[in-house]
Amino acid sequence: MAIFKVDRKESAPIDGQKPGTSGLRKKVVVFKQPNYLHNFVQSTFNALAADKVKGATIVVSGDGRYYSKDAIQIIIKMAAANGVRRVWVGKDGLLSTPAVSAVIRERVGADGSKASGAFILTASHNPGGPHEDFGIKYNMENGGPAPEAITDKIYANTKTINGYFIAEDLPDVDISTIGVTSFSGPEGNFDVDVFDSADDYVKLMKTIFDFQSIQKLLSSPKFSFCYDALHGVAGAYAKRIFVEELGAKESSLINCTPKEDFGGGHPDPNLTYAKELVSRMGLGKSSPQGEVPEFGAAADGDADRNMILGKRFFVTPSDSVAIIAANAVQAIPYFASGLKGVARSMPTSAALDVVAKNLNLKFFEVPTGWKFFGNLMDAGLCSVCGEESFGTGSDHIREKDGIWAVLAWLSILAFKNKDNINGGSLVTVEDIVRQHWATYGRHYYTRYDYENVDAAAAKELMANLVKLQASLPEVNKTISGIRSDVSNVVEADEFEYKDPVDGSVSKHQGIRYLFADGSRLVFRLSGTGSEGATIRLYIEQYEKDSSKTGRDSQEALAPLVDVALKLSKMQEFTGRSAPTVIT
Ligand code: G6P
Ligand code: ZN
Repeated sequence: MAIFKVDRKESAPIDGQKPGTSGLRKKVVVFKQPNYLHNFVQSTFNALAADKVKGATIVVSGDGRYYSKDAIQIIIKMAAANGVRRVWVGKDGLLSTPAVSAVIRERVGADGSKASGAFILTASHNPGGPHEDFGIKYNMENGGPAPEAITDKIYANTKTINGYFIAEDLPDVDISTIGVTSFSGPEGNFDVDVFDSADDYVKLMKTIFDFQSIQKLLSSPKFSFCYDALHGVAGAYAKRIFVEELGAKESSLINCTPKEDFGGGHPDPNLTYAKELVSRMGLGKSSPQGEVPEFGAAADGDADRNMILGKRFFVTPSDSVAIIAANAVQAIPYFASGLKGVARSMPTSAALDVVAKNLNLKFFEVPTGWKFFGNLMDAGLCSVCGEESFGTGSDHIREKDGIWAVLAWLSILAFKNKDNINGGSLVTVEDIVRQHWATYGRHYYTRYDYENVDAAAAKELMANLVKLQASLPEVNKTISGIRSDVSNVVEADEFEYKDPVDGSVSKHQGIRYLFADGSRLVFRLSGTGSEGATIRLYIEQYEKDSSKTGRDSQEALAPLVDVALKLSKMQEFTGRSAPTVIT
């Protein structure tokens, strides 16, 4: 057994290590600066309770983006030097964010050990490569991201750090081979356990879904399927789950080999960036080659986001969570005994609210950010939740879960088609969505993103919108001057949330304009961008009349969009005549 010693290296604070909504995300060149990663990792160890470090088991893995392999070796050496007993690493350093959450909650080591937390190496849906983004975040024992109390402490530590511990003579561990490597240090043994990235996650999925019924659907000649991992870590799960377990054809998988630079693409599953899938599904500008599949889905770099598509049909994330909630009890065994409650983020459309009301379910509207759902789930108040930003999930883990969302949709399709899988025509994704609108009404929805706007200009635009809220008669006068076919604003505020579990209050969580007919405009500044400011404008209109739920959404929303852009003086403040991305 190799023996290592512990070295203490002098260091000094480095500016700008404040973790954002989902950890510390910076360009690779920033992370490669001397001591940059080391300082953050040591600051994290110092922010945790001693027993979560000394003698503990921690997970270190991520979406496999560029610099991950180097970072993993550094973190292993620092973990050893800080008295960690075991480090668990997914083969090749790959674990999706939801799989990390599952591993923390479910995996038991050969000696009965359980993990107390994880370093997740990802910048989610941001591009990867030598000139792109790297990221690191810490998840806690419940499998969810560290709460603000911890991330604040990490940040404070980065500002006072003067040294870190590292076992420099510990040899690099071969993370491409499954197995345990043991070392001996001043505080006893230290193990690095490299394990299969998919095993624990697949096991968990099998306890949630009826794999047999999904298998039947996938083997039906009437059904066809397509999955795009955008070269992210989802590829490591897609082959195993969709092909090996569920019998989908290998040709159903596109971009499913994880790559350090995501093949040069932007691994964000939306209609703009998931180009190949979008065109295969008949939604691109040119007509697709070959047959259009019945169902398509994509994931982001770390596989926590999802996009669901039907044949020539886009399911908005807001509708997706509502439809999953409406069908969960019948279609998904994990929910057979009922839903504890449902939740959405504030800018997500109110489609879920209508389902909750109809099914008499507890309902929560939380600020943007998955951590708010975690608190509700830990308290047993919420089973299914989702966000407009392509995140959907449940209380099986404490992260959103891209592959879970696909399995949920396949389960619903399997359930709706259970009596006609051999005869009769297929109930399609589009049928399910249109049926849902006919029952619950439709929330027309779109989001306009203005990326990399001058930060000061974005601030001014937001301040102006808050100022306007003081006089609704003025606002309504302006609106009627813009469009006569848009109803009046009846309420306007900045969203504020009091967590029902811990009582904490989050203020300034987005500017809302609520209209008499249930329409809504929301303005927010993104909390995840790495350059300048990103303004997000969310536009929503409710249509109860089932004869009017089939319109094109951009067309239906055009009057509200007009009002939003003019009321906010978007072009005046930002200089932009069009958004960067429309979803
Ligand atoms: C991350 C979080 C999500 C959140 C999203 C919002 O993906 O995990 O929970 O919805 O960021 O991003 P934004 O850029 O709108 O702040
Ligand atoms: Zn992600």
